[in-house]
Amino acid sequence: MSKINIKIEGIAYQVEEGMTILEAAKACGYEIPSLCAFNHGECNAGSCRVCLVEATGARGLVASCVYPVAEGMEIRISSPKAVEARRASVELLLSNHNKNCQQCDKNGQCELLHVASLTGARDNAFEGAHSETHLDYVAPGLVRDTSKCILCGRCVARCQNAQGIGILGFENRGFETFISPAGDRSFADSPCIQCGQCVNVCPTGALMEHSEIDRVDEAFKAGKHVIVQAAPAVRAALGEEFGYPVGTPVTGKMIAALRRLGFERVYDVNFGADLTIMEEGTELLGRLKNGGVLPMITSCSPGWVNYAEYNYGDLLPHLSSCKSPHQMQGAIIKSYWASQHGIDPKDIFVVSVMPCVAKKFEKEREQEKVNGIPDVDAVITTRELARMIKRSGILFNRLPDEEWDEDIMGDYTGAGVIFGVTGGVMEAALRTVYHVLTGKEHEKIVFEEVRGHEGGIREASIDINGTVINVAIASGMRSAKVLLDDIREGKSKYHFIEIMGCPGGCINGGGQPYIRSCFLPNESDDIMDTYKEKRAKALYSEDERQVLRQSHNNPQIKELYDKFLGEPNSHKAHELLHTSYAEREGFNEIK
Ligand code: FES
Repeated sequence: MSKINIKIEGIAYQVEEGMTILEAAKACGYEIPSLCAFNHGECNAGSCRVCLVEATGARGLVASCVYPVAEGMEIRISSPKAVEARRASVELLLSNHNKNCQQCDKNGQCELLHVASLTGARDNAFEGAHSETHLDYVAPGLVRDTSKCILCGRCVARCQNAQGIGILGFENRGFETFISPAGDRSFADSPCIQCGQCVNVCPTGALMEHSEIDRVDEAFKAGKHVIVQAAPAVRAALGEEFGYPVGTPVTGKMIAALRRLGFERVYDVNFGADLTIMEEGTELLGRLKNGGVLPMITSCSPGWVNYAEYNYGDLLPHLSSCKSPHQMQGAIIKSYWASQHGIDPKDIFVVSVMPCVAKKFEKEREQEKVNGIPDVDAVITTRELARMIKRSGILFNRLPDEEWDEDIMGDYTGAGVIFGVTGGVMEAALRTVYHVLTGKEHEKIVFEEVRGHEGGIREASIDINGTVINVAIASGMRSAKVLLDDIREGKSKYHFIEIMGCPGGCINGGGQPYIRSCFLPNESDDIMDTYKEKRAKALYSEDERQVLRQSHNNPQIKELYDKFLGEPNSHKAHELLHTSYAEREGFNEIK
């Protein structure tokens, strides 16, 4: 890319041709407030006008997020005209905004308030009529409150571009415009997969996860045995909520915080991940040996399962019948653990801390229940856990590092840890499949071929003692669609496919801490990729630190089969750890 000469506030700089003024300014050390512009052009509607500047060659003020730099351009960010215009833009947004900030869970992380403070906006400068409010509190995963929406369109772009789903769109015109699934339907009545990617990019509290903190509080009040289990990706991101650099694992402090919140037992979902590998690996080998439906596709991402049920009902036999790790572990807590401790399962309340919004939906599925009893009673996101910690007065940074509870489900392997990153389930399964086919452990343990998230789809052929297993990995529904269409057309060459609902896998799940472009040093970085890479590293490094790195070597998993389940895929294992799927109505085409 060739360089061009510009001036900002009279000072000369060289920047890359083709950059927007916003990108060029950030590269030169200036922060221009912005709202609708997001992630290097993923959303650049140019609609909020919060980023206005003066530039020579342009008529009047320009939206710096969409206006490109040009040779010799002189830019004024701090001219009285530009400063006044940006403030007025924010005040206009505030004039039609629900300002009950103390009741908003986004308080403290709201980007509208951030730009209000940057621009010096006063909230009552243009007080007047408010648009009609549309509320949706029906879906288990997501809530929508248009009184807080600024119509930036980030959610629309995320759903359409990153996921290729296109559930969200602009309804009506002018002052009556609002964002919604088509026809102002609830998320629950539309083919929304509840991945929560729209929540991740919403700058205000208009889109949020459906909080279950109250349900957890009620369980404590009712004197239940409240047991918590945390997914691997949570530890890789929770620290961001407390000022730690992205990618800092905070496992020990998280465990300490969960104990101080009052949970009776604190377990790692990694045990459930090891259990999943035993069940799923056995299922795969059975399908390979007995001519079962191939390719087999992983089923631990509920966003992906929703997508399959809505759009690829004919391919449901390809999905593994395994429940996801936290559901499996919940089922074990309410059966084996309960009997070992002499507790009635009805008195147990299992809380899962998840990087995922769709898990809130998953736990409600009838097909997940055992004799009418849910495996898991409440799902809270990484963000909700951070809120619980903050409201309890716990100084997270000062907590000691503590260990998981170890009775029955305390052991876990590195294979379980990497479930949180795209390709991790595949790699964990291959470690065990290798052992089953050869009777040995794989020398290098890691399967580099299935790591990374570039390009959305990866594929590899793994030769294990003469048995070649063709595998593919996709994360995000836009990538998954390519693999699924090949299966539908009979062109797929794979035996085993891993699909995760969110781009990058659970580390980038819809319940993870917000990614904020305004806090990044370089506007031209792909912020999603930056966060994904750093969080993934935290999990791979935890895998490397483990003495045991293959699920089949987990001693407590062996004990669980010896004493309770019998063997993988046994009748009892099927009763507790497997599920089924059903075609649901939805859009059949990705736009
Ligand atoms: Fe530039 Fe919205 S118009 S950030």
